[in-house]
Amino acid sequence: MSILVTGGAGYIGSHTVVELLNNNVEVIIIDDFSNSKPEVLEKIKQITKKDFKFYRMDYGNAEELKKVFEENPSIEGVMNFAGYKAVGESVQKPLEYYTNNISGTLTLLNTMKKYNVKKFVFSSSATVYGEENDIPYVETMKTGSTTNPYGTTKVFIERILQDLYKSDTTWNIAILRYFNPIGAHESGLIGEEPQGIPNNLMPYIVRVASGELKELSVFGNDYPTPDGTGVRDYLHVVDLAKGHVKALEKLNKDQQGLHIYNLGTGRGYSVLEIVHTFEKVTGKKVQYKIVDRREGDIAIAYADTKKSHEELGWIAEKNLEDMCKDSWNYIEKSQKK
Ligand code: WQD
Repeated sequence: MSILVTGGAGYIGSHTVVELLNNNVEVIIIDDFSNSKPEVLEKIKQITKKDFKFYRMDYGNAEELKKVFEENPSIEGVMNFAGYKAVGESVQKPLEYYTNNISGTLTLLNTMKKYNVKKFVFSSSATVYGEENDIPYVETMKTGSTTNPYGTTKVFIERILQDLYKSDTTWNIAILRYFNPIGAHESGLIGEEPQGIPNNLMPYIVRVASGELKELSVFGNDYPTPDGTGVRDYLHVVDLAKGHVKALEKLNKDQQGLHIYNLGTGRGYSVLEIVHTFEKVTGKKVQYKIVDRREGDIAIAYADTKKSHEELGWIAEKNLEDMCKDSWNYIEKSQKK
């Protein structure tokens, strides 16, 4: 039996494929390389010494997706990482985000239904909690007061999945709400490689430290936080990947249901705490300047981790220093190539 991984060459997808292969799960990857690089596939094989099938395609292309399911009757479930994921960019490009994220997922779900594949792990996001909920965020909280189109696509897809499950309880769904994944595999062979200028904090910091970018713009220091800069729940991408293996194990055990889980560490760090920890761990200087707030940002976000710990047996093990060290190790290794 195999798991189809959409966006499996991407940052989170590739780290999850490594953990799936390490757990002897057979994997089929589809990716269009719109936010990833082909060489990641070889790196996954180098790390795991395992092979997998790959299709270069848009996950939203119904004809090509049908072909994948026709050629691989072993597919028993799908993990969906494909999708655009930058808060700031989504405010500038709402149509692209709604089309790629929502229409793509609908095509995927319709194809799964046609082939009676009902095991589904969805990459959701802490942004679904919006700005009306108190922290720490709990899975039972109302979602929807999102401040950007990226977060709204995740709210819509979660709602689609809940309506789908209500209509047919033989579906077997895990909705995973990611907080802020950073870091890289300890090998330094795979990591975060956003196309163009990074939208997210850590990929920007490492490029300032390497000299590729001049300085970090800190988006506001007038938030109601200890040092005035935004606070987020950063977790190591390998911990996040391991959370997916745990979620799949639960779906394999339960056989049907719909579950929502936070994947975070349960503690928040400010932008300047990330900068200072990165400098301490790597010995590199990170030049920065304080600028205006970024549209769509909120002050503070971090997870309540009780449910994912109790029901998945999952807890983030790596600390902020590991995240900074591994992020920098990846950049150093990729510059030596
Ligand atoms: C983090 C903090 C910024 C860049 C989004 C998605 C989330 C996840 C990660 C998918 C904020 C500040 C950032 C910069 C800065 N996506 N910042 N200067 O917006 O919390 O979350 O990305 O996995 O689902 O919502 O992440 O890294 O963009 O920002 O000051 O150049 O860093 O204001 O406080 P965000 P981020």
